[in-house]
Amino acid sequence: MKTIAVVCQKGGVGKTTTVINLASVLSRKGLKTLIIDTDPQGNVSTYLNQNKTSELTTSTTQILEGENNIEPIKVFENLYLIPSDVDIKKHNSEKIVGGSKMRKIRQNETIKTFDIVFIDTPPTMSSLVQEALSTSDYYFIPSKPEFLAVEGVGQAMSFAKQTISEVPHTDPHFLGVVLNQVDTRRASYHDFVSELKQILSDKLFTTHISQLTEIADSPFYAKTVLDFSEYSKARIEFEELSNELLEKVGL
Ligand SMILES: Nc1ncnc2c1ncn2[C@@H]1O[C@H](COP(=O)(O)OP(=O)(O)O)[C@@H](O)[C@H]1O
Ligand SMILES: [Mg+2]
Repeated sequence: MKTIAVVCQKGGVGKTTTVINLASVLSRKGLKTLIIDTDPQGNVSTYLNQNKTSELTTSTTQILEGENNIEPIKVFENLYLIPSDVDIKKHNSEKIVGGSKMRKIRQNETIKTFDIVFIDTPPTMSSLVQEALSTSDYYFIPSKPEFLAVEGVGQAMSFAKQTISEVPHTDPHFLGVVLNQVDTRRASYHDFVSELKQILSDKLFTTHISQLTEIADSPFYAKTVLDFSEYSKARIEFEELSNELLEKVGL
């Protein structure tokens, strides 16, 4: 089992989009994949059109409260979800250090049946993000290719480093930055990438995801890139990103 947290305190950078589409593509490849949502907004459920939670389903809030009998939602073959809800807010604080409540699931028999687990996080620097980092073997940071984004990436990396030093048994490996919503026609793009490469060296994913209207529209229609044609740019890019990710985590 490989557990990967997707983090950035900035909203709208593509955390949920990359989680949903990578998880979809990897589950289609035959890997048993789980998404755990830790964002009170519960966007993963909305994106996947899974709003009818039954009594039997376990939520991330229940996990934080010690539930051991874990029952994820089956979204489709090989893709499962543990949804979030607004109640999770009571576990979200920027003043306390989090990280001891969720990592217990790493020993859970149901969770251990998964090949890959993605943890989507809220756009904050809070205890919930620390829970996600502490539960994970790896993390990556999606970013828009904009001038100010360099600062955002730096802050996300510092927060992760601080978490690693403050929270016992926490040492996720940094996989790098995934550039999302890329428009290579923009004059500043290439300058931006060379600046970022100087700071990050090999911690920048080779694959980027373009700014595409089909991705922008997909949450509205509850679509993932698997619903697009095999030859669509969005699908090809996410296939490539998933291959790069698999290589980085040794799967
Ligand atoms: N590559 C992309 N091209 C076009 N729109 C995108 C792309 N990635 C994300 N979006 C859109 O941007 C918005 C924010 O993305 P989201 O994944 O929800 O960000 P986050 O989870 O970091 O807040 C969403 O409406 C999403 O559809
Ligand atoms: Mg999100």
